[in-house]
Parts: sequence; structure tokens; C-alpha cells
Amino acid sequence: MWKGRFQKDTSSLVQRYGESISFDWRLYAHDIAGSRAHAEALARAKIITRAELAAIHKGLKSIQTDIEAGNFEWKAELEDVHMNIESALTQRIGAAGAKLHTARSRNDQVALDSRLYCRTETHTIIGLVRNLQRALTTHGLKNQAVIMPGYTHLQRGQPVLYAHHLLAYVEMLERDAARLTDALKRINVLPLGSGALAGSTICLDREFVAAHLGFDGVTHNSMDAVADRDYIAELLFAIALTGMHLSRLSEDIILWVSAEFGFVSLSDAHTTGSSLMPQKKNPDVAELTRGKTGRLYGNLTSILTTLKGLPLTYNRDMQEDKEPLFDSVDTIKLALEVFAEMIAGMSVNAERIRAAASDPFLLATDLADWLVLKGMPFRQAHEIIGKLTAHSLATGTAFPDIPLADYRKFSPVFNASVFKVLTLDHAVAARKATGAPSPANVARELTSWQQRLTSARRKSRR
Ligand code: ARG
Repeated sequence: MWKGRFQKDTSSLVQRYGESISFDWRLYAHDIAGSRAHAEALARAKIITRAELAAIHKGLKSIQTDIEAGNFEWKAELEDVHMNIESALTQRIGAAGAKLHTARSRNDQVALDSRLYCRTETHTIIGLVRNLQRALTTHGLKNQAVIMPGYTHLQRGQPVLYAHHLLAYVEMLERDAARLTDALKRINVLPLGSGALAGSTICLDREFVAAHLGFDGVTHNSMDAVADRDYIAELLFAIALTGMHLSRLSEDIILWVSAEFGFVSLSDAHTTGSSLMPQKKNPDVAELTRGKTGRLYGNLTSILTTLKGLPLTYNRDMQEDKEPLFDSVDTIKLALEVFAEMIAGMSVNAERIRAAASDPFLLATDLADWLVLKGMPFRQAHEIIGKLTAHSLATGTAFPDIPLADYRKFSPVFNASVFKVLTLDHAVAARKATGAPSPANVARELTSWQQRLTSARRKSRR
């Protein structure tokens, strides 16, 4: 492609070192879509004739057909997807193919392709996030009555509904979907027409190309447009954060399936055995997700590091953006898919959870609150219940079994009605403020998520 200036062939080591076709071939459909739109613009500007335009369309179509049938030979000596396709086109249709690269550089071409890739994949990822939210909501609806201990410091804290715990992840995923949707605004801008860095003396109708390719607008600085990979960093961040949420859910599930917790079990289809210990049923999907999240962080760090020292505009370093991008996209898509399936197949051991939640100490805060409602300052109430807890531990008597006379030794404010707060059902039902886990609140949240997620699905199908 640059043989004019050179007397020697590229060293084969340099070819191997610099080729990107082994991974950027994946951009072929976007590259072809971009070329078709560019050819339209060339025809409108009368750089190519209608007949040449038709030949380009036909040639690109045959190339796409061959690629998809596995009949296209990618050549490492042609370096990347852009040159492979252009060279095949010229071979197939002759001179018209050689005109296609007019007023275009690989710099704005690769920026276009990667924006198209990011756009398509971001939409797919948002859809998969929604699927997982649906799986969590459905699982919550099925197990609406289950009360479990909520934890801080991995110590039992206060009673919550199991569904409330699940809905916490639905909220996280909602923020992930919102972040991805917001990133689309910056992804969906057309860079084509920026040329190598300074546009072109041949002025094409960029707004026309943008509309043709479904972009919301065009970039306004050619130098920024070919140097910008912010949208990739942003997408990799949104993916890394989604991965972090899945990783936390993984950790919860890993604990819950252990013999020590025994709260849930996973379907055989989503666990693996041990080659040595016959009794084992391991939560590998969750562990892998926790592990792969490290790679998602690595990919984000990789792109940020690649970009930080680059002077304007395009530098070949930027070719290193693709592997981390592809890896993060592939990884999160598969993780979201397998999680939705795994959650749908998860079953709850309601008795074990209930038993864990029946730890009377979970109601210590409720006892303190009872004193507060009788007019006592919270700090004083906290101290009294602290002493009562020590008494309960020392005597081996649970809160509900301590006689009223003994309660009154800790504070004369106590009366028989204190025993009413000492049931789990009372404890959760009393947590009625917005965002708290009373059964009525959680039921309302579950239904509202179910409705929102169903309408999201209807919209995405349209
Ligand atoms: N394969 C290249 C990349 O991914 C395409 C752009 C090449 N541009 C150049 N001036 N060498 O970055």
C-alpha cells in the first residue's frame, strides 16, 4: 500500500510484529459498512461514477459473503482488516476498488470501525444486563417470603428479605445499564472524514455519511477524532464495573453454597466436580467470574496506559486498543449470559436461611429502637442492650427467653410489650421506610422491576 516510497520489502519479523489481522478481522462487517457509506459519499461528490459505486457495493458484498462462509484468505502481509478488504476489492473489481480510499485514511477508518463495533456490542451488553436483572427479579419473586440475616463485616447484622439482597444487585446492574447507555452518546459520533489527521482537500458530505450509518452527529476536530479512544476507555470502565458487581455476587454465592452457610444450591449444570474428592460440587462459574474480573481491570488499565504518553494524533501504539477491548466485551457477555442461566437454576434452602435468621441477636437493634420509642436517647439504649447481650451470652438465654423481671434489672422502662418486637416477622415488617426491606416494600419493588424489565424487553425487540 505504500510501495511508492520504499525500495525494500518489510522484514518478515516486522510483519509478524505489526500485523493486527489475527484479531482485527473481527471488524470486517463494520469495515465493509463504513466503506459502503464512504463510497456513497464519493459518488455524491462525483469522485466515482454510479457504475463504480455499484461495482464497489457488489465487490464488498461478495467479500462479506466469502468471509462469512469461511472462504476468505486473510493475509498477514496485508497487515490489517482495512488493507485486506481493500486489496481483495481491487483484485475483484479493478480500478473502482483503488478509488475507494480517496479522502480516507486508515486512521479515520479504524476509528470508524471501532466506534461501530463499540456501538453494536454496547447495545448487546445492555440487553444481557437486562436479562440478568430479569433472572434475579424472577428468582426473588419465587422466594419472596424468605427472611435472611443481612451482614456487615460478614457478621450477622439485621434481618432482611432474601429478595431484598437480590434486588441490591438489580440496582447495581441498573446503574451499569445507565452507564453503558450514557457511553453510547460519546461512542455514536462519526469520525470518518478526519482523514489521517487534517481532513481532506476533497470535501465529502460527512453529515450524509453520519446519517447513513446511524450516527447522532460528526466529530468537530479532525485531530481529536483520529487520536480519541476515550470511548473505549469509558466502555472498558463500564464493563469493569459491571464485572465488579458480578464478582461481588459471585462471592455471595460462593459463601451461600458452602456447607457452612448452606443457603442455596446451584444446579448440577452450573457446577463442577473434583477429579479427586468425589463429594465435591464446586461453584466454578462464580469463581471464574471473580477471577475474570481481574482481567477486565487489566484491560482498562492497559488502554489508559497506552494512551497516556501519546502526542497527537494517531500513533501506532493505538493498535494495542483492540485486544483488551475485544477481550472485555467477550468476557462480560459470556459472564452475563451464564449468570442469568445460573440464577434461574439456583434453589433456596429456606429452612437453613430461616435458621440463620432466627439468631435472636439480629434483633438487638430492634430492642434498642424499642427503648428509643419509649423516650430514651439512642446511645443510652445502645449501652443497655449491649449489657443485655453480654447477659444473654453469659447465661445462654436468648432475648425472648429472658424473663421480664431480668429485663427490668437493665432498665425499669421495659414492660411486657417488649416481647412483641422479638419476632423476625415483626422485625422485617417494621422496616417500612423507602428502601428498607419490609415485605410490602420488597413486593412493590419486585413488581415494579418486573414491569420495567418487561417493557425494556418489549422496547428492545421493536
Ligand atoms: N491497524 C491499525 C490500527 O489498528 C490501523 C491504523 C493504521 N494507521 C497507520 N497510520 N498505520 O491502529
